Amino acid sequence: MWDRKDLLSIDQLERSDIDQILGYAETLEPYSGPGDKLYICRGEILYRAFFEPSTRTYESFGVAMHMLDGDVEGFRQPTGTSMEKNETKEDTLRALDSLFDIIVIRDDKEGSVAHYANILDIPVINAGDGSNEHPSQTLLDLRTIEKEVGTLDELDVVFVGDLMNGRTVHSLIKGLRKYNRNQVYGFSPRGLELPEYLRGTDYQEIQFDDIYDINPQVIYVTRIQKERIEGEELREQFDAEKKFYEINSERLTQLPATTRIMHPLPCIGEIDDKAFEDSRVIPYKQVRHGIETRMAILAMMLGHVPELMEMEKTKAR
Ligand code: NCD
Repeated sequence: MWDRKDLLSIDQLERSDIDQILGYAETLEPYSGPGDKLYICRGEILYRAFFEPSTRTYESFGVAMHMLDGDVEGFRQPTGTSMEKNETKEDTLRALDSLFDIIVIRDDKEGSVAHYANILDIPVINAGDGSNEHPSQTLLDLRTIEKEVGTLDELDVVFVGDLMNGRTVHSLIKGLRKYNRNQVYGFSPRGLELPEYLRGTDYQEIQFDDIYDINPQVIYVTRIQKERIEGEELREQFDAEKKFYEINSERLTQLPATTRIMHPLPCIGEIDDKAFEDSRVIPYKQVRHGIETRMAILAMMLGHVPELMEMEKTKAR
């Protein structure tokens, strides 16, 4: 059972924990749009410490907290903080510990957010630690799949792109394994295959054209994580191989009407502009589902389960 002090890895969650988060997300969705407001987190402050670039995750946590009537602070680069005076990340975070109620941290090193969580008393959410994990992205991805496909069991899910370094891929594969009889397939440039420790009997490496036989419910596309690849030459080579798995209109015509194309974004050409017009291509639905999913995560971690349960009861009446 998840103790809710921190959300660092999908490993901490059981299926029942994920189902509970997704259930609260469903209850909160009607209050997640512009103009809506709940008063669950009034007086509480979220801090976002992002040592790596971000658009969606940073803003999405901010909007989610606003929707719960909480306050939001943070930085997206150490620029302008005392880290410019050589203060360590640890000391910077220690100073924030007594000022805020909950903190979302993104960093470039695997395992670093767990290390920070160890030295902080307030709840910590891992918003990406190097190529390791990104659990809140997985929860919103699972919510998107549940809404769009209707189930989280017995799925065929194909991952394409940088499976070696993509933390959203690593967390989502772990998430899919919490459910029953899901099959996972991977197609990546050679050298960017899924790490050994994440391969199981449910995992199969494929070629792109195999997808047409698999007829998957979901194709999950990711960009090459250039910042984690050393050497300009290698980065350019992987970039050039993008065309092997690019989702374009021609490929979409060969895919079933029921297949959904997902992407955590940013998309750097892995899905072409025209393909985005196809209703099966749903990265922006993922962005939307991020709000109610993160509202649920924040409310739960801040101890507001009683209020969420009350809302669920009222809804059922
Ligand atoms: C991803 C990340 O930061 O891991 N973005 C996100 O949070 N939605 C994916 C990426 O950067 O490729």
